[in-house]
Amino acid sequence: MKKFNRYTITAALPYANGPVHIGHLAGVYVPADIYARYQRLKGEDVLFVCGSDEHGVPITLKARQENVSPQDIVDKYHTIIKSAFERLGISTDIYSRTTSKTHHKTSSDFFRKLYDAGEFIEKTSEQYYDEEAKQFLADRYITGTCPHCGNEKAYGDQCEKCGTTLSSTELINPKSTISGNKPVLKETSHWYLPLDKHEPFLRKWILEDHKEWKPNVSGQCKSWLDQGLQPRAVSRDLDWGVPVPVEGAEGKVLYVWFDAPIGYISNTIEWAEKEGKDWEKYWKSDDTKLVHFIGKDNIVFHCIIFPVMLKTHGEFILPENVPANEFLNLENDKISTSRNWAVWLHEYLDEFPGKEDVLRYVLCANAPESKDNDFTWKDFQARNNNELVAVFGNFVNRTLVLTQKYYEGKVPEITTLTDFDKEALAELASVKQKIESNLETFHFREALKDAMNLARLGNKYLADSEPWKLIKTDPERVKTILNISLQITANLAIVFEPFLPFTSKKLLEFMNMEKAGWDKLGKSDLIAAGHQIKEPSLLFDKIEDDVIDAQILKLQNTKKANESNAPAKAAKENISFDDFTKLDIRTGVILEAEKVAKTKKLLKLLIDTGIDKRTVVSGIAEFYNPEDIIGKKVCILVNLAPREIKGIESKGMVLMAENAQGEMSFISSIKDFKPGSEIK
Ligand code: 2FM
Ligand code: ZN
Repeated sequence: MKKFNRYTITAALPYANGPVHIGHLAGVYVPADIYARYQRLKGEDVLFVCGSDEHGVPITLKARQENVSPQDIVDKYHTIIKSAFERLGISTDIYSRTTSKTHHKTSSDFFRKLYDAGEFIEKTSEQYYDEEAKQFLADRYITGTCPHCGNEKAYGDQCEKCGTTLSSTELINPKSTISGNKPVLKETSHWYLPLDKHEPFLRKWILEDHKEWKPNVSGQCKSWLDQGLQPRAVSRDLDWGVPVPVEGAEGKVLYVWFDAPIGYISNTIEWAEKEGKDWEKYWKSDDTKLVHFIGKDNIVFHCIIFPVMLKTHGEFILPENVPANEFLNLENDKISTSRNWAVWLHEYLDEFPGKEDVLRYVLCANAPESKDNDFTWKDFQARNNNELVAVFGNFVNRTLVLTQKYYEGKVPEITTLTDFDKEALAELASVKQKIESNLETFHFREALKDAMNLARLGNKYLADSEPWKLIKTDPERVKTILNISLQITANLAIVFEPFLPFTSKKLLEFMNMEKAGWDKLGKSDLIAAGHQIKEPSLLFDKIEDDVIDAQILKLQNTKKANESNAPAKAAKENISFDDFTKLDIRTGVILEAEKVAKTKKLLKLLIDTGIDKRTVVSGIAEFYNPEDIIGKKVCILVNLAPREIKGIESKGMVLMAENAQGEMSFISSIKDFKPGSEIK
C-alpha cells in the first residue's frame, strides 16, 4: 500500500441557499469529520477543508423571490451553516466561502490556465433571452409546458412532474419567470470542457487504477462512461458568479460546478496564509492523500469533471478516493427542503442542547453507506436509550462510581490476573486493528459498531464479575476488576474521539487525563495505579417519549400544513361519456422495475396488462424503490399512444394519485382480479 505523508480531506461545499439538515450530515459531514479526526489522532498531517458554495442560479432565484440581493442570501446562510457545523463539532481547519477574493482569483486563474492551454472548445448556440430584462435566461428562469406529460409548470431543465430532463427549447409556450414574456432565441457562445477527449484516461484511472472505490461510486462512474461523455459548458450567461476572465466575455460567469470544487483549493490557500503553511504541499505533492466526501448526487462532478480539470491543469494531484454516500430519508419520506421535510441541524442543536453526540452517533450508526436509509425519531430514541445510555453510559458510570465509593477515586492496582481478566484484556487489545481497517476503508458504521463493542465488553466484564458483591468477600480481586474497567474506560475516550468528540472530552475530564493518541488504543496501562479521578456525572441521559412525540408531532404538522396550504385543483372541463369510454384502463401487475439512468424520477416498468407484457416509463422513482413494487397491482391506461422517454418506448400510463405536494401513490385494484380486467 502506498504511504502518504499528509491528508487533504474535503467535504462538499454546501449551497448557501438554505440551512443544512440531517441528510447532509449523514451523507457527508459526519463521515468526513470522523475520518479527519481519526487521521489527526493517528498523528497524521491533516487538512480538513470545507466552505459555502455561494454561486449558481438557485441562489439568484431565491434572492429574487425574497426581494433581496444574492449576497444577502449567502451571507445569511453561510453564517447559519458555519455556526451549526461548529456546534456539532465538525472540525474543519477552514470553513470559507466561494464569494471570497481568494476564491475569485484562484478559480479565475484556473480557468485562464486551461483557456490559454487550449483545453476548452468555444461553441455558439441559441439560448433564450428576455428582451425586456435584457438578459439570457438560465434554464430555471424559464417555465413552460412539458412535451412529455403536459405539466404547465415545467422548468427549462427538468419537468418536476414526470422527472424528464429537458432542454429549455423543448418547452411548449416558454415564459420568462422574470418578465413573464415569451423569451426569444439569441446566439451566445460558451466554453466547453471536452470530457469526451478524456474518456480513455478516466476509464483507466477509475475502473482499473481505483478498483477499491465503493461500488456505488464506481458503478455510477461506469454508467456515465458507458453512455459516452459529452463536452460540458463551463460558463453561463449570468450576473452572479466568478466573471469569465476572457476579453469580450462580459455578462458571463464560470459555471458554478466549475468554480465550486476549486473552492477546496482556494480555501486551502486562505488557510495556509493564516497559518503560515505551504498550501501547495496539500494539492501538488504525490505523497498527499486527497479524499473527497460527497453525496451521491455529486459523483459525476468529483469523479469525472473535477479530475479532468485537475489533470488538464497539470499541477495538481487527483483524488485517491471519493467515498460518496447514498441518501438519508426521514420517517420514510424523501428529505425535501421545499416541503420542509427535514430535521434542520441548527434547530436540533437548539432543541437538544448537550446532545450533539447523540445525533452524531445515530447518523453514523445509520449512515446510508451502501443504500438509502431512513432516519426515524423512534430509532433515534432507541439508539440513545438502549445503546448510549444502557451500554456505554452505564458501564462508565458504574466504573467511576465504584472507584469513588471503594477507593475515594484513586485508581486501584492490579493484584492478580485471572483467565477471565486476560480474556477481556486480549479482546481489548484486538479492537484497534479491526476498527482501523474499517476506518481506512470508509466503513464508518462498522467502525462505530467496533467501538461500541468495546463498551459492551466493559459492560459485560463488570456485570459478570460483580465487584459490588465481591467487595465483602474478596476485596483484593475488586482492585483488579476496577483497574481493568478503568483501562477500558480510558480506551473508550480514545476510540470514540472521532465519532463522539464531546463524550470523549467528558470522559477525559472524569478520568482527569490528557488526550491520548490513537497508538495507545488497546493498551491496558493507560492510567496508573494511584491516579486520582474526578467525580463523574452521567455521560448520556435517557430520552423520554414526550420529547420524541413532540418531534413526530412537529413533522406531522409540517405534512398537514403542506396539504392544507394547497387547495384542491379545480375540476377540468366536462367531457362527454363517449370521451370517457375512449380510455381503456385495465388492471395490471408490475413484473420488473428499474431506475432509468441519468434521471432522478423515472422508473422503467415491465407490466403484465393481461393483453401483453409491456414497458412503461413512470415518474415515480422518488416515491417507490424498484425492488419494493415488483408484484404490485396497478391500474394502467393501455391505449395511450406510445411515447419515447429517455430513449425508451413507453406504452401506456400507470394511474397514480398525486397529493398537493406532488407525492404519488399507486391506485391499487381492489379485489384479486386478473390482469387485463377493465376499469370503467
Ligand atoms: O450539492 C451541493 O450541495 C454542492 N453545493 C456541492 C459542491 S461540492 C464542491 F464541488 F464544491
Ligand atoms: Zn413532464
